[in-house]
Amino acid sequence: MEKETVIGKPLDRIDGPLKVSGTAKYAAEFNQKNMAYAFPVRSTIASGSISSIDISEAKKAPGVVNILTHENAPKLAPASGEEFKKSGASVGENFIPMQDNQVHYWGQYIALVIAETYEEARMAAAMVKVNYTKGIVSVNLEKALPGGFRPEKSNGQPAQINAGKTQSIIDSAAVKVDHSYSTSTENHHPMEPHASVAVWNGESKVTLYSSSQGVIALSATVAYFFKLKPENVQIINPFVGGGFGSKGSEWGQGILATMAAKVVKRPVKLVITRQMMQTNVGRRSETIQKVALASDRNGKLQAIRHENGTYANLSEYFEPSGKQSAVLYASPLREITHKVAKLNIGTPTFMRAPGETPGVFALETAMDELAYELKMDPIELRRINHTAVDPMKNHPFSSEYLLDCYTIGAEKFGWNKRDMKPGKNKVGNQLIGYGMATATYPAIRSSASAKVQLKSDGSFVVMCATQDIGTGTYTIMAQTAAEALGVDVKNITVKLGDSSLPPGPVSGGSTTTASVNPAVYEAAKKLRNDLLILARADSQSPLYGKKTEDINFSDGLFYLKNDPAKKDAYVAIMLRHKKTLMEGCVTAMPASGSGLGSQKSMCSNAEIELDENGDAEKYSFHSFGAQFAEVWVDEDFGTVRVKRFVSVHDVGTIMNEKTARSQILGGVIYGFGSALMEETVYDQRYGNPVTRTLADYHVPVNLDVPEIDVYFIGKKDPHISPIGARGIGEIGITGVSAAIGNAIFNATGKRLRDLPFTPDKLV
Ligand code: MOS
Repeated sequence: MEKETVIGKPLDRIDGPLKVSGTAKYAAEFNQKNMAYAFPVRSTIASGSISSIDISEAKKAPGVVNILTHENAPKLAPASGEEFKKSGASVGENFIPMQDNQVHYWGQYIALVIAETYEEARMAAAMVKVNYTKGIVSVNLEKALPGGFRPEKSNGQPAQINAGKTQSIIDSAAVKVDHSYSTSTENHHPMEPHASVAVWNGESKVTLYSSSQGVIALSATVAYFFKLKPENVQIINPFVGGGFGSKGSEWGQGILATMAAKVVKRPVKLVITRQMMQTNVGRRSETIQKVALASDRNGKLQAIRHENGTYANLSEYFEPSGKQSAVLYASPLREITHKVAKLNIGTPTFMRAPGETPGVFALETAMDELAYELKMDPIELRRINHTAVDPMKNHPFSSEYLLDCYTIGAEKFGWNKRDMKPGKNKVGNQLIGYGMATATYPAIRSSASAKVQLKSDGSFVVMCATQDIGTGTYTIMAQTAAEALGVDVKNITVKLGDSSLPPGPVSGGSTTTASVNPAVYEAAKKLRNDLLILARADSQSPLYGKKTEDINFSDGLFYLKNDPAKKDAYVAIMLRHKKTLMEGCVTAMPASGSGLGSQKSMCSNAEIELDENGDAEKYSFHSFGAQFAEVWVDEDFGTVRVKRFVSVHDVGTIMNEKTARSQILGGVIYGFGSALMEETVYDQRYGNPVTRTLADYHVPVNLDVPEIDVYFIGKKDPHISPIGARGIGEIGITGVSAAIGNAIFNATGKRLRDLPFTPDKLV
């Protein structure tokens, strides 16, 4: 009996039928008896204060139950200070609406109407009258940056490295490039807008159905603000219609729904509009970057300098676009700095590959420019400067196949057909160009707990308070458990998206797969081992007294390796021992803790499994890739079409070829948006976004997406976990804008350094 490997198989999503038949329940669909609806009122100024707010007429509108403003809303615990920090609360902005009369950005929630129906709440919201004292509106990054500040750190990492140290090397370099790049403000638009249904159970317990990338963090958040015990706040979230970082922390709608439900003593539903997605749930902020590269005549880098400018508002978060410049390429010296201005724009947050998406664009465009200065093939330049060692930490990468990504990508793409000289390849009025870029994203793993149960009908339940944000978490958890137990995936039910389950980390930073599956694997193994111990000690078992090393498992049973007829089924073993349920529960964590740090709580009676080999002190954990674009640029109209795209990635073990490919496809298409269309534009006078909806905030549609070829190296990372999988959700976007921009240069000879590459920049 040769055992088949389940991990890696391109299985269909086990939750697919639920999703396509409309039976998968999303947060907004948990309707309650006697439920009221809340609709927020947003500020129509970007800076200043509310001088008066008149709700008298709105209160008389049909169906209105109550209206909350800063004058009558309950005061919650503050979104700052020591208690807040200790609580594990995670908010997108250090700000709770309606606690005072201050306005920090256009669209800020300033009142909340609660009514019998959604329509009634929405209509009454339009009847609330507000007078403001207007402040000065600052929404222009270029103007504000000189007055900005230099933060010491970004997410715990140094934000200023070797400031001022590279100038003399760059001045005297044999070959150099030194240019400015800019990227646009972008907004998250997952299919499912942020939604919450809050249900109080007495005064001390609340259940919140809420679209979230982190149910454990959200339960801590609600518990903190309403002064409840975390175990008395249950977050339920079995399906999430995407998040991209905007559901990584709480952005107010969950807090407001909970507040409203407390005040009106009824369950309350709050679903925000697409327009609110544009103002109230974070954004990727605009960046202005300068990259200087100095090399010798052979293309060996002598210095990399990356200066980054961006904005922040009501949190410490800023777009860390210098990140990748600390990881890519060997260079004796590198200087990376960040400067941040405060603007009256809704608070920025993580958005798919925060930092790398704008940062790789600038660095990888500069590399292409340097290749042209050197008259050298761009891949050759990258090979010459390749590093197998993290240049800042001086640790080797845990496993790294970037050179193979270049080789495979170039071959699959047909890079050898590229003419280095721009403007050579033309069909009619279409200029054709080839471009490439390196992709990179850190691999983060944090601790996670999982429980695996065997039930008396022989089926298994796998549990973790993680979430499936559309990525395939359900499916790969089932595959992992199936692998460890030697059973068919069909025998496994997965439960997630519930904060009362054994805790898992936030699904952000591409951490879920690398963190949750080692726990699932170990929990399943623990259950299997417990069953085997029972069998070997059981005189009724054909395996009685046999040595562990002589026993194998598959198809839900143990058998003797050299006499497979001697076998004992898991469920038979359990039932003979008069048990109706057996379970394994494990908290798995990397030995020295990498990335986001440890999850504090774990399941009761959990075995703690330390991975001896997941050693963050000895290795640096990163994923890499190479991305290739063919573009056709219309000479007359300046429109850019991506005709072909090839993406090759080194991300460790692939858990499921199909869902993994989907993650890269999503990332690449997201990158098409970044490269060619996505841009949130603010009215410079009033600070409101003029791109208010998906009618004017453009994202790629099917016709914008050509054939995308995805390849994986698929080699296990032996140091991140025994499974060897790194995250995969974010790396797919990172090199796309640069690959497309470099292809546009190859097509036209025009170097575009400002995203997005709209037609006006090409004619
Ligand atoms: Mo991701 S931007 O960390 O959800």
